[in-house]
Amino acid sequence: MKAQDKKIVHLVAAARPNFMKIAPLYHALSATAWCAPRIVHTGQHYDFNMSDAFFRDLGLPDSHYNLGIGSGSHAEQTGNVMIAYEKVCLENPPDGIVVVGDVNSTAACAMVGTKLWIPVVHLEAGLRSGDRRMPEEINRLVTDAIADLLWTPSADADANLLREGVDKNKIDLIGNIMIDSFEMLRSKIESSGARESLGLKSEKYGIVTLHRPSNVDDADTLRSIVDSLEEITADIRLIFVSHPRTMKNLQRFALLDRLREINGIDLLDPIPYIDFMNIVTGAALTITDSGGLQEETTYLGIPCLTMRENTERPITVTQGTNKLVSHHELLPCVRKILAGEWSKGSCPPLWDGQAAGRAVLSLEKRLSRPGAFSRAPAG
Ligand code: UD1
Repeated sequence: MKAQDKKIVHLVAAARPNFMKIAPLYHALSATAWCAPRIVHTGQHYDFNMSDAFFRDLGLPDSHYNLGIGSGSHAEQTGNVMIAYEKVCLENPPDGIVVVGDVNSTAACAMVGTKLWIPVVHLEAGLRSGDRRMPEEINRLVTDAIADLLWTPSADADANLLREGVDKNKIDLIGNIMIDSFEMLRSKIESSGARESLGLKSEKYGIVTLHRPSNVDDADTLRSIVDSLEEITADIRLIFVSHPRTMKNLQRFALLDRLREINGIDLLDPIPYIDFMNIVTGAALTITDSGGLQEETTYLGIPCLTMRENTERPITVTQGTNKLVSHHELLPCVRKILAGEWSKGSCPPLWDGQAAGRAVLSLEKRLSRPGAFSRAPAG
């Protein structure tokens, strides 16, 4: 097929967890004869450690479009992405748009695409925490309600969509694409040497990552969390991998020096994907509020304590190694884990490193069939 006859598909990525999800899909689509994928970086994450380092690790080229949106309030971020992305789509309309995850850019680009009648696919569709206080839940609901094709990671996501009245013909269960990223880079992850350079060869350690507004935006809550982490260091060394939001708030609430002085906690800047996963694979446990880490630890069989009241990834609790906890419950749970009293869990179906291949087949089938994305009125 001539280059100009290939289908142009935009892969929209905005923030760190999105880069991991588009990478396997970008590589799989590039390998086909029919598709020319284009990366659209909205610029929601822009620090080298939050963005470029991930592109490099994941073997992604520079983005084809960078909207350069940066930080801002929810309305500013969402609105600015919509204005900038609409211009891109009007100048060079793609044949399809893939949006991923649940960040503000996901919902923004889905709205732009659907209003221009460009087929929109949501990768990681159907996840629900049931908690509409979280901006991510609003982004998931909006995106799933308007997207033309919904790629789900697990059967519980299909059930959520069907319960909301989504036509089953719009849903394709493709599995968990984060696992594709891990498997794609497994040998580099295993040989990265990050553990050794932190002196983590023999000693047991836990990883901490926290960035949700509910944990880090309130001074009293963040102070209590720091107190709880300090208690845990009596039992295990902690590697606290920070996020810009968390660092800024630690500083703002005068907790940064206190945290740095705790013996047994190493506070690190954000770490690129390969080195980070090298440290994760050697950890005895993780304490987190991240979505991705809940899934990665279930896949790797590593105990995970998630500091949230709910999760949009319940399969990691029912089938995997994850437990939802408050910071008061951290210490007893850590002790249980260290005593070997934690479920080893099992890996959910289709978390097998082949999700991108299934996504490519699903997209090809629809883009090659006239009317597959038709927007005729229902009924
Ligand atoms: C966003 C997503 C969240 C996702 C997370 C992953 C939304 C609503 N939230 O949260 O779902 O789990 O990304 O990391 O889309 N900042 C920097 N450098 C950067 C990026 C951010 O310094 O490269 C700082 C800025 O001060 C910014 C703050 O971090 O205001 C928060 O960034 P933002 O993109 O608003 O949300 P996240 O907390 O990263």
